[in-house]
Amino acid sequence: FPGMDRISPLDDMIGVGDMVLLDPLSEDSLISNLKERFGHQEIYTYIGSVAISINPYTLLPIYTPEKVEEYRNCNFYELKPHIYAIADEAYRSLRDRDKDQCILITGESGAGKTEEASKLVMSYVAAVCGQRQEVSQVKEQLLQSNPVLEAFGNAKTVRNDNSSRFGKYMDIEFDFKGQPLGGVISNYLLEKSRVVRHVQGERNFHIFYQLLAGGPAKLLNRLKLERNCDRYSYLSAVSENANGIDDAAEFETVQNAMQIIGFTNSEVTSVLETVAVVLKLGNIQLVAESKANGMDACSMAHTAVLGEICELVGLDETILENALCCRTMEMKREKMTMSLNVAQAYYARDALAKNLYNRLFNWLVNRINESIKVKSNERKKVMGVLDIYGFEIFEDNSFEQFIINYCNEKLQQVFIELTLKEEQEEYVREGLEWTPVKYFDNTIICDLIENSKKGILAMLDEECLRPGQVTDSTFLQKLNQVCKNHKHFESQVIQNAKHISDATLPRHCFRLQHYAGKVTYNIDGFVDKNNDLLYRDLSQAMWKANHKLLKSLFPEGDPKKLSLKRPPTAGSQFKTSVVILMKNLHTKNPNYIRCIKPNDKKAPSLFMEPLVRTQVRYLGLMENIRVRRAGYAFRQAYEPCLDRYKMLCKQTWPHWKGKARDGVQMLLTTLGIPKEEYAYGWTKIFIRNPKMLFDLEDKRRRRVYELATVIQKTYRGWKCRTHYLLMRKSQILISAWFKRHAQQKKYQQTKQATITMQAYVRGWKLRIACRELTYSCHLHTCMHTHVYCTYGCTSRQAWKRVHAHTHKLPLTSWVCVCVQVRKEYRKYFRSNASKRIYSFVYKRLLHKYFMDLKNNLPSMSPMDRKWPSVPYMFLAPTHQELKRIFHLWKCKKYREQITAQRKAMFEEKLYASELFKDKKALYPISVPQLFQGEYLTMQKSTKYQKLSSTIEEKIIVADTVLKINRTNGKSSPRICLLTKSYFVLADVKSAQIKTAINLHDISSVSVSHYSDGLFALHLNERSSVGTKGDYLLISDHLIEVITKLHRTATETTKQKMNLHILDEFKVKFKRDEVLIKFVEAVAKNGNGAVCKKKSSHMMEVMVQ
Ligand SMILES: Nc1ncnc2c1ncn2[C@@H]1O[C@H](COP(=O)(O)OP(=O)(O)OP(=O)(O)O)[C@@H](O)[C@H]1O
Ligand SMILES: [Mg+2]
Repeated sequence: FPGMDRISPLDDMIGVGDMVLLDPLSEDSLISNLKERFGHQEIYTYIGSVAISINPYTLLPIYTPEKVEEYRNCNFYELKPHIYAIADEAYRSLRDRDKDQCILITGESGAGKTEEASKLVMSYVAAVCGQRQEVSQVKEQLLQSNPVLEAFGNAKTVRNDNSSRFGKYMDIEFDFKGQPLGGVISNYLLEKSRVVRHVQGERNFHIFYQLLAGGPAKLLNRLKLERNCDRYSYLSAVSENANGIDDAAEFETVQNAMQIIGFTNSEVTSVLETVAVVLKLGNIQLVAESKANGMDACSMAHTAVLGEICELVGLDETILENALCCRTMEMKREKMTMSLNVAQAYYARDALAKNLYNRLFNWLVNRINESIKVKSNERKKVMGVLDIYGFEIFEDNSFEQFIINYCNEKLQQVFIELTLKEEQEEYVREGLEWTPVKYFDNTIICDLIENSKKGILAMLDEECLRPGQVTDSTFLQKLNQVCKNHKHFESQVIQNAKHISDATLPRHCFRLQHYAGKVTYNIDGFVDKNNDLLYRDLSQAMWKANHKLLKSLFPEGDPKKLSLKRPPTAGSQFKTSVVILMKNLHTKNPNYIRCIKPNDKKAPSLFMEPLVRTQVRYLGLMENIRVRRAGYAFRQAYEPCLDRYKMLCKQTWPHWKGKARDGVQMLLTTLGIPKEEYAYGWTKIFIRNPKMLFDLEDKRRRRVYELATVIQKTYRGWKCRTHYLLMRKSQILISAWFKRHAQQKKYQQTKQATITMQAYVRGWKLRIACRELTYSCHLHTCMHTHVYCTYGCTSRQAWKRVHAHTHKLPLTSWVCVCVQVRKEYRKYFRSNASKRIYSFVYKRLLHKYFMDLKNNLPSMSPMDRKWPSVPYMFLAPTHQELKRIFHLWKCKKYREQITAQRKAMFEEKLYASELFKDKKALYPISVPQLFQGEYLTMQKSTKYQKLSSTIEEKIIVADTVLKINRTNGKSSPRICLLTKSYFVLADVKSAQIKTAINLHDISSVSVSHYSDGLFALHLNERSSVGTKGDYLLISDHLIEVITKLHRTATETTKQKMNLHILDEFKVKFKRDEVLIKFVEAVAKNGNGAVCKKKSSHMMEVMVQ
């Protein structure tokens, strides 16, 4: 198919996908179309926007993620009919058109409502909406509510292995982007009688079997349950293993689901404990007893089960036993306890079990709602999914079936109202040409049931509330009376009255002609079930239990909340909730899925025509097709329609000034849509085929993309331009700054270069000028000399003369040049030249200073401390430092030329200065005198040679001294020799040694501070010299002799010899101590000291 990018699903369609196109249209052709399609596993067929689904009873490969992708955002006429297409359409209407939606799934039990509704629709919606973390959690919680509610609310029936035994309506709430926020579940009348009784071949609610099969041994132990269904009377009546149901696996699924929803562990345990209590209640056995007053009573056959129950829920056994076996009647102010007979007690037991389970189920729904409820207050869009128990016809139909079928009747009414009645009425209202299509309106049946005065439910309530003897039979009698003329009501009494014999209608039954067929209801239990009474003793007993959940399930058991008001009956409760539900559905845009059951064997590929025909009839599919064929698929008020599609036409975009209707007309005409495809109503536009609507939607989508592109383009252009302008502005700013900076730099360089050049040029010019000046000076001098020689006169005189001749001398020109240069360059001069001049002058000054200093250096004598005066004050520190350095240098030079001998002498001189300087008056005189040591020419005289030969050691001092006589103070000369170890005194004439004093024996030496030459040698007491005592000697070289003696003695004895410089001191002569006292006097014989012995203890020494 060249040019076609997609092959139409109609091309390989099995039968007719949309039965609006069925030709010829008849019931047979409709059924054979369904059959043909079913045979090819095409289970979905449309009637316009209504989907017909035939239960395949086998898993088909049409629910894969790829299929989800395929149907996502695709118009449903483009692909094969599918539940996903309906779900997608509903979701997109919700998201894009902001219209709350509801998906109504109807069909009889086992037709596939739950599968389609809760599983496929919800999982599709979950798959196509947001993938964010928090959204995923919400989706998971919504999806996981299914297994939990199914476990507690579904059961195997003869029609369906997983039959919903409660009605469920779930509102899924979305935000404005179409992302799920949460939801609310409403539940309708659980078939609680199933807890205590079910017919052969059916099962109790799944959870009982799941708990026993899948509960871990530890849990069962804790709950005191056995893994055997036969042990429980509520379960044992049937074969438990429903085909294909894996209870153990399901139990795990339920537990996981509860965890995901947010049940705490303790909540899960409490729920399971309650389930266990219900099971155990069924095992309570009662035995009849006769009381003393002859009244029937009962008691527990055995208390083990009762004990287990009470232990599980924390209740006193006697309380529960009394509550089960007795009944307290309260009459005005009296309380009366009545014993129950066995039947009554069993009734009470079962009532408790049913109520307990029912309340547990309601609690579960509320708890799930708690988890999935929307936490934010933002505006929500809602998609409601209704999965209510399907229409049921059993062999024995009771109150539950009556209620279930009533509900289905109401749903059929909604369908009729919205698709058939309302639609046709609207065509007329809007002034369209319309030939009415006949259909069966079930309002009459609904009225029969729900009429508030003569309705069956009203009469049942009346009967229940009526005082006196009330039984199911009295109720039937009442019905026979009130409904005897009703076309859809039959009973044996009425039939008999009409003389019709009908064996299929027993006496205790009545029959209703429902939209889906006739159903015979057995009235047994109607009154009881409607009353739904639980003895107050039982609710009070339950409230007393120490089990949080159980206690909360029976709030009316609280004595403080005691109310004598009768609770509303089950029927009226159900009616109220159905009314609310219907109102709710009317506010939403309905999407229909009508489920058909192909066979009653739950077998795949089996299409039982009669069964399907019945369903086709009561579902009103033929009427549906007829209305659809003649009618219009879509309608919308002019304003919203124009708002939605006005962008498709230039005239209406962006604003249409005229009336909305004219705008729509303009739009459709411009788009060239054939006239037969639509019709104008008074307020709405009617579109015949969905295809046209989808075409419009496609066009709109493309146009919106285009418009979005224009907006994007404009925005991007604006953004880029803004950005560009900003960049440009920034660039100009940056370049301005940069240029300024570059120019500044360049200017600085040029300025620097100019100044440098100026400096050079000026220097060069000055040098030339200087040269010229020097030259002129030379010239001047030459001229002087020349003039003088030539003219014999002074230069001044000559100058004048010469100047007269040579008035254009270079000097003049130099001065001119100088002045001019200075004038011209003054402005540049200050900035740079001053620095250079300063540096030049400074260098010049330094140079001059150093040259002057060099030429005026003082003598090299270390004694010469002279130094030129400082020429410039700024050089004063340098000048001082140079003086110091120069002196040190002089000293160094001086030291370098001294010989070792002189050095030794100077050392001795230094030694002498340390001993005597500033202590003895003789010292300054001795300083310039050289220390000669040998004053006697020992080698020349033979007698001295002899003396020196007797002394082996080197002679340090050889001199003549005067020795003072100890007795009279007179002096006599002696030769004095000093060696390394001895101080020797020898006779001057004979040169014989008189005394040799070991240096060790000299303890100290005493001298005066005068300029005399007397000194005393103090000897140790144990000296080797004998006992003559200390020596008084006079030397002309006292300073030298004592210095050398002191030095030698210190070196030899390794002990510092004591030297006393005093004006008087004591000496020892023999054993006497004599005071030597120095007295200043005029000298008689030179400068020598004169001693006078004044007494034996004092000797005076006259000194100058
Ligand atoms: N689309 C499907 N594909 C495969 N099997 C299906 C499909 N729909 C239904 N079934 C099968 O049919 C059985 C009955 O379906 P379901 O429980 O949905 O019926 P129902 O209409 O909800 O009945 P009830 O009114 O009793 O609750 C399911 O357990 C399932 O095995
Ligand atoms: Mg169901």
